[in-house]
Amino acid sequence: MNKKYTILVTGGAGFIGSALVRHIISNTDHKVVNIDKLTYSGNLESLESITEDKNYIFEQVDICNSKKLTRVFEENKPDIVIHLAAESHVDRSIDGPLEFIQTNVLGTYFLLESSRIYFKTLQGPKKDNFRFLHVSTDEVYGDLKSNSDFFLEETRYDPSSPYSASKASSDHLVRAWHRSYGLPVLITNCSNNYGPYQFPEKLIPHVILSAINGKKIPIYGDGTQIRDWLFVEDHIHALMDVVFKGVIGETYNIGGNNEIQNIEVAKKICAILDNLMPENLNGISSYSELIAYVEDRPGHDVRYAIDSNKIKSNLGWIPKENFESGILKTVQWYLENLSWSDRIQNGNYKLKRIGVNKK
Ligand SMILES: NC(=O)c1ccc[n+]([C@@H]2O[C@H](COP(=O)([O-])OP(=O)(O)OC[C@H]3O[C@@H](n4cnc5c(N)ncnc54)[C@H](O)[C@@H]3O)[C@@H](O)[C@H]2O)c1
Repeated sequence: MNKKYTILVTGGAGFIGSALVRHIISNTDHKVVNIDKLTYSGNLESLESITEDKNYIFEQVDICNSKKLTRVFEENKPDIVIHLAAESHVDRSIDGPLEFIQTNVLGTYFLLESSRIYFKTLQGPKKDNFRFLHVSTDEVYGDLKSNSDFFLEETRYDPSSPYSASKASSDHLVRAWHRSYGLPVLITNCSNNYGPYQFPEKLIPHVILSAINGKKIPIYGDGTQIRDWLFVEDHIHALMDVVFKGVIGETYNIGGNNEIQNIEVAKKICAILDNLMPENLNGISSYSELIAYVEDRPGHDVRYAIDSNKIKSNLGWIPKENFESGILKTVQWYLENLSWSDRIQNGNYKLKRIGVNKK
């Protein structure tokens, strides 16, 4: 990792993308070219700490715009592409699938084509070192039926929502561009992430901010859905391991080994807030009294759980945080950065769970 590379990151103004960009700029000598359309979930404020760095470039580009993509490749001559740009919210995909097909499927196609055409022009070590890392989700595998099952890299794809179907399609395209055109790709399928700078429509920031604001904390169905939670910085280390040490053409599952029911996640957050912010309780004895069960989302998968043994044994990746330590850091971050989430909630997004009808 002593060489200095130019890394093209798509979706670098989003939750995981911004954590990746901050990590690369703060901890390595690599250059980052961040291209992002800046949809509702992209936020340049998440990158304020590194925006002035000489190794950082931002361009507002839609990955569906192949002309602009071609120019970005020609001007920056990247060594590595890490593709995170996506529409990422399941509820929104159920309400309006088209944007998911556009960005996640067509956008990935345009990015693959630009990468392929650029890759053909490369020679020598620049060609040998080129990598295209596609960042995907465990949701492509669908639902786990038994409590003893885990998603393996070989698990059959069985997506349930338009979001997961669009990500599954993009995974297939990436594999096809490797097998048909020799593009040196890698794929990661990761479980649910949480941590600083996550857009408040997702479960964990939603619970934290609802509680802080004294609003009802909506939990889908009976709250027994199980997710495998991973602290975002552990995901970033995994992505760096895969891009620099992974085997071309391979897929790596990434999970936190933290299987927790949604209702337990909400209760843990409430307990942390009871300790950190008792003065804000306003007459109730615990923030958990704000929890309200709401009508479940259609096709809600019951359990996801990842087997991460391949990335652990082949690449030596180990997550540093368990759920207890990661969730404490996350709640503390939101409490210390209320102005960040205030600005988001003062925009179009009003801290409402999308697609939810109250029971
Ligand atoms: N959040 C998770 O728990 C999780 C878990 C596993 C995998 N992933 C994957 O990781 C990636 C990032 O997820 P996230 O949670 O950071 O999402 P996010 O919604 O926070 O960020 C997505 C970013 O992509 C940008 N974007 C959207 N459409 C674009 C387009 N057409 N052109 C260019 N930029 C565009 C947005 O502006 C935003 O900055 C996604 O591909 C997602 O499928 C997420």
